[in-house]
Amino acid sequence: EKGNHRHFMAKEIHEQPTVVAQTLGHYLDMANETVHLPGDVTIDFARLERISIAACGTAYYAGLIAKYWFERYARLPVEIDVASEFRYREAPLGDNGLTIVISQSGETADTLASLRYARDEDQSVLAVVNVATSTIARESDAVMPTLAGPEIGVASTKAFTCQLATLCAIAVAAGRARGTVSAEEERALVGALTEVPRLMNEALGLSDEIETLARTFAKTRDVLYLGRGTSYPLALEGALKLKEISYIHAEGYAAGELKHGPIALIDENMPVVVIAPHDAVFDKTMSNMQEVAARGGRIVLITDASGAKQAALPTEATLVMPDMHPAITPLVYALPIQLLAYHTAVHMGTDVDQPRNLAKSVTVE
Ligand code: M6R
Repeated sequence: EKGNHRHFMAKEIHEQPTVVAQTLGHYLDMANETVHLPGDVTIDFARLERISIAACGTAYYAGLIAKYWFERYARLPVEIDVASEFRYREAPLGDNGLTIVISQSGETADTLASLRYARDEDQSVLAVVNVATSTIARESDAVMPTLAGPEIGVASTKAFTCQLATLCAIAVAAGRARGTVSAEEERALVGALTEVPRLMNEALGLSDEIETLARTFAKTRDVLYLGRGTSYPLALEGALKLKEISYIHAEGYAAGELKHGPIALIDENMPVVVIAPHDAVFDKTMSNMQEVAARGGRIVLITDASGAKQAALPTEATLVMPDMHPAITPLVYALPIQLLAYHTAVHMGTDVDQPRNLAKSVTVE
C-alpha cells in the first residue's frame, strides 16, 4: 500500500529513516556503541587477505562505496566488478578471500552466477540481501539481511541505503577484528551510524526545494553528476536513478575525471550536480566545480553549511544538508539524489514505479 504517497517510490524514499534504523538495530549494539554481527556469521576477518564484490546496478554502487570503507577501516584490499563481468572474466581469486554479493531481490541472474563462480574458486561467500528466502541467500555461506521490507518501485531506494548501513557495519566489524579500528574509533563510527535516521529525516525536509528545482531538470536533455571519494559512487547512482525513471540522459563521473573528457560537454544548458559534503576531499571537488562555473555550467551543489559558505561560487541551487561524520555521508546524501530523480520524473509524467523497458528483478542474463 502506498499510504498517502502518490507512488511506491515516494513511500519508499520516506520510509528510509525507519528501515535504516531497523537494519542498524540488527548490527549495532547502540547502548554499548559497538558493532555486533549476528551469531551465525562466522567469518574470520583477521585471516582474510582480500575481498571481491560482485553486484548489479544500484547494488553495485553500494559495493563501490563499501570498497572505500573496507579499505579505510579494515585495511583490506577490495576488488569490485559488475556481476556480468565478474562471472566471465576468470579472475584469480586466491586463498583466504571473501566474496561479497549484494542484491535486493536475491535472484539477479548474474549476481547468482558470480556467487557460484566464487564458491567454485573456494572463496567464502557473504550475501547482503533483502529477500531472506531468495536463492542468493540460500546458496551463500553467510547472510547479512538488509531489513528494508518489500521494495516495490523498480528504482531501488530504501534497499540501497539499507545495503550501505549493513556494509558499513561489516567494515567496522572487520576493522575491529583486524585491529585496524580502535575501540574509540568504533564508538565514534557507531555513534555516527546511530545518527543516520535523524539526519535522513532532516534531508527529507529538502523535498519541496528539490521539487522546485526538478521543474527545470524536467526540461533538460542531459545531466552530469560529479563527486569524489564515497560521493563518486553516489554520483553514479544519481545518474542511474535519473535516467531510469525520467529517461533524461545522465552520467556520473569522478570529479577529478572532468578534465579528461566530460568537460567538453559543459555549456549553459547542462545542469551539473556536484555532491560535495565538507570532507577531506572538499577543496579538490571545489576546484573541479570552478572549472564547470568558468564554462557557464549550471551548478546544483549538494553540501552542508560550511561547504556552502566556502564554495563562494554562483550556483543555480545549493541544497544545504545537515552536518555529519564523513563516514556516513553516502547514506544521507542518497536522499536528495533520489528526490531529485523522483520529482523530475513526476514533472515529466513518466510511470515512476514501472519505468519502460525495466523489470524489478533481472533473472535472465
Ligand atoms: O535485486 P538486485 O539488487 O540484485 O538488482 C540489481 C539491479 O537490477 C537493480 O539495482 C537496478 O539497477 C535498479 N533498478 C536500480 O534502481
